[in-house]
Amino acid sequence: MPTARLSLDRSQFVAPVRRRIFGSFVEHLGRCVYDGLYEPGHPTTDADGFRGDVLELVRELGVTTVRYPGGNFVSGYRWEDGVGPKADRPRRLDLAWHSLETNQVGLDEFARWCRLAGCELMLAANLGTRGIQEALDLLEYANHPGGTALSDARVANGTPQPHDVRMWCLGNEMDGPWQIGHLTAAEYGALAARTGAAMKMVDPALELVACGSSGSGMPTFGEWERIVLEQAYDQVDYLSCHAYYQEQDGDLDSFLASSLDMQHVIETVAATADHVKATGRKERSIAISFDEWNVWYVAEHEESGKITDGWPVAPRLLEDAYSVADAVVVGSLLITLLKHSDRVHAASLAQLVNVIAPIMTEPGGPAWRQTTFFPFATTARLAAGDVLRPRVEVGTYPTARHGDAPLVDAVATHYAASGRAAVFLVNRSREAVAVTIGLGDLGPTRLEEALSLHDDDVYAKNTLADPERVGLRPNDSARLADGAVEVTLPPVSWTALALA
Ligand code: AHR
Repeated sequence: MPTARLSLDRSQFVAPVRRRIFGSFVEHLGRCVYDGLYEPGHPTTDADGFRGDVLELVRELGVTTVRYPGGNFVSGYRWEDGVGPKADRPRRLDLAWHSLETNQVGLDEFARWCRLAGCELMLAANLGTRGIQEALDLLEYANHPGGTALSDARVANGTPQPHDVRMWCLGNEMDGPWQIGHLTAAEYGALAARTGAAMKMVDPALELVACGSSGSGMPTFGEWERIVLEQAYDQVDYLSCHAYYQEQDGDLDSFLASSLDMQHVIETVAATADHVKATGRKERSIAISFDEWNVWYVAEHEESGKITDGWPVAPRLLEDAYSVADAVVVGSLLITLLKHSDRVHAASLAQLVNVIAPIMTEPGGPAWRQTTFFPFATTARLAAGDVLRPRVEVGTYPTARHGDAPLVDAVATHYAASGRAAVFLVNRSREAVAVTIGLGDLGPTRLEEALSLHDDDVYAKNTLADPERVGLRPNDSARLADGAVEVTLPPVSWTALALA
């Protein structure tokens, strides 16, 4: 059996655990909102039409922030359509997903839903078909306490308190030719700078996110970031990163090493931002908001995911059913995000319900946890205090897409005040790996939890017919003695250890 040795020490401090890393994303797309988190008439639904069973699962998932309302959708969205009496709200064509938007859920309802779910709302402004004035109007409606036309409209619509939205995305994926109102980097950089400057005249403490590239495969990746920041550096606080991964051509080995690409994206974007910082003689650093990341079988949706005939309301779009292997990759992507907490200050798992999501629902029926739910919920629950980047001594295996990949990757967190620690590990190997974890000066003496996600069938999934096929299981091999943990990681698995 291959072996690995991890050494932990407080000196491996990276940054505090940033709770916004456990964010998610709700777009008006397919059945994410309608027939997802909102379904009037469902047996668990409250007076506002929100499904109680979905809310419970969102709380269990431990989501901290939710990016809303898109995504590609936002680039054609008129936020005013979604406020005021529901009966008066217009039905509109949603060009991004070739669907019909009923506007029965809008800003005020979604902000209320966020409060019920215990999440921070993160808003995206439309910079596709709209510009500075509409972003300012939305800001006034959302955040101004009262005494102006738009803030008074919010009060009259039943929301006396401002929503106090702190994080704002200046558009979405404006580098993508598919985006409504797609711009060049120079055009977008100028628009983001002007919009950001105006928004900060309202509230200088807003945290603004400029669009980075929509993927590292874009021909303008790197250049886009440089050009945008050269214009908008002083007005923004974050640059966004987006990345989706999938198993291609049966190459599971490469897929399991997807986090190496995410690491490359983070390091490249950080280096580009720092280049602009250096040449522009700036003092502040730009953080990364990794506000779309997940496994997504994009290629499979090329045909089925495109609606060309009619304009359906809430069609079934991008409803990936996730396997054990997908969940192991999601767990390893979270390890990478945590390991880069010095630079990645916020992240959003895309998306939350039904659409490439950890939570699935059936209209009038149950809601259930996909395999990817488990590593996210457990990491969000156990990660606390400081992030430590452990030294990992382990062998590698060759991959076609990412070169040599370590068999095991890991990250730890340590909360000095309580003495608690957590270790998150991924085993990419097809064999079990015996791991020894030296706890150094951390000092825990008790192993409280050892949970692994693994199945003999790496393609096993949770479905409507069999919603509990896959779950976390106690890892009975784990032992803590003499300042070290011994644990065997099953083949192709994700594991969490909680120590006290
Ligand atoms: O999350 C699905 C889509 O992926 C989003 O709408 C878009 O921003 C990205 O391309």
